[in-house]
Amino acid sequence: MENSLEYARSLDQADVLKDYRDAFIIPVEEGKEQLYFLGNSLGLQPRRTAGYLQRILDQWSRYGVESFFMGEDPWMHYHDHLIRPLSRIVGALPSEVTVMNQLTVNLHLIMVSFYRPEGKRNKIICEAKAFPSDQYMLETHVRSHGLDPEQVIVEVAPREGEHTIRHEDIVEAIDRHKEELALVLWGGLNYYTGQVFDMASITDAAHKAGARVGFDLAHAAGNIALDLHAWEVDFACWCSYKYLNSGPGAVGGAYVHERFHKDPTLNRFAGWWGYDKTTRFKMEKGFRPIASAEGWQLSTPSLLLYAAHRASLEIFEEAGMDRLVEKGQALSDYLLFLLDEVNRRSGNRQVEVITPRWRSEKGCQVSMLMHSRGREVFDALSREGIFADWREPNVIRVAAVPLYNRFEEVWHFATILDKVLNG
Ligand SMILES: Cc1ncc(COP(=O)(O)O)c(C=O)c1O
Repeated sequence: MENSLEYARSLDQADVLKDYRDAFIIPVEEGKEQLYFLGNSLGLQPRRTAGYLQRILDQWSRYGVESFFMGEDPWMHYHDHLIRPLSRIVGALPSEVTVMNQLTVNLHLIMVSFYRPEGKRNKIICEAKAFPSDQYMLETHVRSHGLDPEQVIVEVAPREGEHTIRHEDIVEAIDRHKEELALVLWGGLNYYTGQVFDMASITDAAHKAGARVGFDLAHAAGNIALDLHAWEVDFACWCSYKYLNSGPGAVGGAYVHERFHKDPTLNRFAGWWGYDKTTRFKMEKGFRPIASAEGWQLSTPSLLLYAAHRASLEIFEEAGMDRLVEKGQALSDYLLFLLDEVNRRSGNRQVEVITPRWRSEKGCQVSMLMHSRGREVFDALSREGIFADWREPNVIRVAAVPLYNRFEEVWHFATILDKVLNG
């Protein structure tokens, strides 16, 4: 790799996905396109989203409630448009995927089925410093079973002086608690460090310990290669406002392995939207779930959220997940190379990259631990039109995403950072 604008531009020239940038609205300030590296927080708006929303509004104004059954695209079948692209993104059978609610809500709901503490088998293993919403979800969910979170939740943390969690420590913790373990709930990619976890072998270890296993894929869906069905993951949930570009507060997604779809022993919280579709409108007593992941739905969906989701998923279908993953890795590889250059020039390690460097352990996000003047540097980057984010106490996160970021933007970012740090 080379640290030059010409080289970065040559990568863009050779990029087979380069035209997809035009499918998105890039933020502009005083006539200048900003360097948006926050696709890991809120993905940019696809140009086609407004049109999809408008079609829902038009159908509503023309047919009112009959829109569920009438018009060129009856709303009763709208969910079907989302399932195939999503199943390819997460590596699942179409029947294993559903679109509903938001992420934390879905984790609570699916935990109702998959966290069934019995006697001393009541422990949950999770990552230390998981995203706060996951921590609050676990804490309160455990309490709802009359259990003490302090006793039941086992966190696995990085070793002293390290930033990421060693895989062998996760497997060792699972093995150590195998007699009491009910569930392993883990992130696919840690929101703070950008570390990707080996979900296949965590699943394997959890199953060998007789426990269930689920993943929070907030930072993984649409970012890294996933193969949930083949890995035999029991359940997973994700949001779609990050890499999946479906808008603020976008509708979430969930996966449940097919071996559970017809299991009558699973507990659930039900609602009419999860009821067998062929007889739902008979409005009869007694819940009969749809025999797929859709059986976990509760409420009438928001068609507007569906429409925004569909607009973005269509772009994923066109671009192809394999090509997106490949380019996402190439973008973060280039950023890591340039950050090494910044450190080399300053003669000391002002920027410590805490994201692993191996492709199997990272996605698009690179997290930089700032050893001095962190907040000052971050503010200076923001003044230069860079959208990155600051995480207390001293981490700057940057994600160059394959659908709309360019190698040239990554080069500009590193050059501006170099100027701010090294003068
Ligand atoms: C890892 C992770 N889990 C959970 C959440 C919360 O998601 P929601 O607000 O959609 O419930 C987020 C939000 O950023 C997240 O990054």
